[in-house]
Amino acid sequence: MEMLEEIQKLKDEATSALGTLKSTDDAENFRLRYLSRKGALAQLFEKLKEVPKENKPALGKSLNELRTFLENEFETSRNNLGSKSPTSDGSLDLSIPGRKRYTGRKHPLTQTADEIKRIFTNIGFGIADGPEIEDDYHNFEALNFPPDHPARDMQDTFFVKSEEGKYVLRTHTSGVQIRVMENNKPPVRVMMPGRVYRNEAISARSYCLFHQVEGLYVDKNVSLAELKGTIAYFAKEFFNEEAKLRFRPSYFPFTEPSAEVDVNCFICGGKGCKICKYSGWLEIMGCGMVDPNVFKAVKYDENEVSGYAFGMGIERLALLRYGIDDIRLFFENDLRFLNQF
Ligand code: DAH
Repeated sequence: MEMLEEIQKLKDEATSALGTLKSTDDAENFRLRYLSRKGALAQLFEKLKEVPKENKPALGKSLNELRTFLENEFETSRNNLGSKSPTSDGSLDLSIPGRKRYTGRKHPLTQTADEIKRIFTNIGFGIADGPEIEDDYHNFEALNFPPDHPARDMQDTFFVKSEEGKYVLRTHTSGVQIRVMENNKPPVRVMMPGRVYRNEAISARSYCLFHQVEGLYVDKNVSLAELKGTIAYFAKEFFNEEAKLRFRPSYFPFTEPSAEVDVNCFICGGKGCKICKYSGWLEIMGCGMVDPNVFKAVKYDENEVSGYAFGMGIERLALLRYGIDDIRLFFENDLRFLNQF
């Protein structure tokens, strides 16, 4: 190729390369490729030594012009690069500390409810729910509460004013048992989580609303031994493998016999501490065999089927599990508290 053509070609190539420079790295690559001591321009100067003597002055002049041209153009491009960079025009200050992004998470009560649901759905329980504004029939009557039972007392129940009938804010999730059995033939095996309300003085131990999970299993030949086995499985899954249980006889209108379940205090190992009130035991739920009167109310044949039911407070289980001593913390939504879960 003629030397003159080569000079023109290099000029065209380098000029279009200059137009694509975007970073200081690009600029440095350009410099190495075209302007450095071993670059394309230097190579042409090298070639100049071999051209016939008479052509040297003209070609030398062209090459020198090209060098000046490229060096100037390169300088301008590189400076423009600098002024376009956000760090040099002040729009980006790399010394400002970054902004931390916080990830959201589930409320500890939701986490606890999810865990309880997981444990029971693993052994075949389904999930059901019911209304928070409940009629007297489902909250009390069908559950075998006599009309004068103290739990209906103004102390505990929030009554709802209604022209259409007697309504309450449900005081427990047990009413969902009735709804499930009304709508399904046996066998039934369900967990019923939800929010409940009690008209109690607010303190570290009680709040005007809280959450429960109800469990119900009805089938032919369901026994108390199965109830105990299921609760023992739950306690091992939820607390730990070594969880020991104690069933204390108790009373609920909708179960017969009834019991309250204690787990050995895993905080002090049974020696006695503030959380277990120095008894070595922590109460975790109420339970029992479904009372025949409940089966009558939902038109199940009490001679054909039997069943067990249990109910636990989610706040209580969360308090025990995390060693929290004030139930109000769950409702204040203080991020310093919530961030710990
Ligand atoms: N509903 C009871 C309460 O609120 C808890 C309970 C006890 C539920 C025994 C049950 C049960 O299903 O069998 O205190």
